[in-house]
Amino acid sequence: MALHLGSVAPDFTQESTEGPIKFHEWIGNKWAVLFSHPKDFTPVCTTELGVVAKLKPEFEKRNAKVIALSVDDANSHKGWTKDIEETQHTKLNFPIIADSDRKVSKLYDMIHPEANDTLTVRSVFIIDPNKKIRLTLTYPASAGRNFQELLRVLDSLQLTDHHSVATPADWKHGDDVVIVPSLTDPKIMKEKFPKGWKELKPYLRMTPDPTR
Ligand code: BEZ
Repeated sequence: MALHLGSVAPDFTQESTEGPIKFHEWIGNKWAVLFSHPKDFTPVCTTELGVVAKLKPEFEKRNAKVIALSVDDANSHKGWTKDIEETQHTKLNFPIIADSDRKVSKLYDMIHPEANDTLTVRSVFIIDPNKKIRLTLTYPASAGRNFQELLRVLDSLQLTDHHSVATPADWKHGDDVVIVPSLTDPKIMKEKFPKGWKELKPYLRMTPDPTR
């Protein structure tokens, strides 16, 4: 079945560089970022894992855990980890799922046969503490991902979960936001947005980031 935004992220148990992972249990009450790699010992993936290791404190600030997946076994991942640490000058501080039987890749539809029938594409799933999928992204093997974008989306999801706002194009934490179109009662709007708002169109109302 297709995995949609709002679907429950499929649970699984699979080996990893940090031992067996029971996925939902591993997520606990945090957010999770699950991202796949085509293969071990490949250049773009090596840089991606280095970047994520360096950004781990930023994910932690957002109450989020990160976990990678590649379709090789844990021994291979451990050998590759040494290369990542050497070339990217960082310690690998999160697990890599060892998906040599493709169990998780198939569960999450990470293999796109028209692109490559055995390797995973670069998939990303952001999963919330209720285990619901909140973002999906699919990149080709040839394009490394922008992990700052994942932090930005986590900021947006966490803000919009708690306030009646949405975030505009290229928004980043602290920028003005838009008031959701469904909110039209001026009394409620004044309560929710005491700093006021600017109405550019009846459906386009800008207000300062309510958490600022
Ligand atoms: C890479 O990670 O560098 C890569 C993997 C598969 C195909 C192309 C590039």
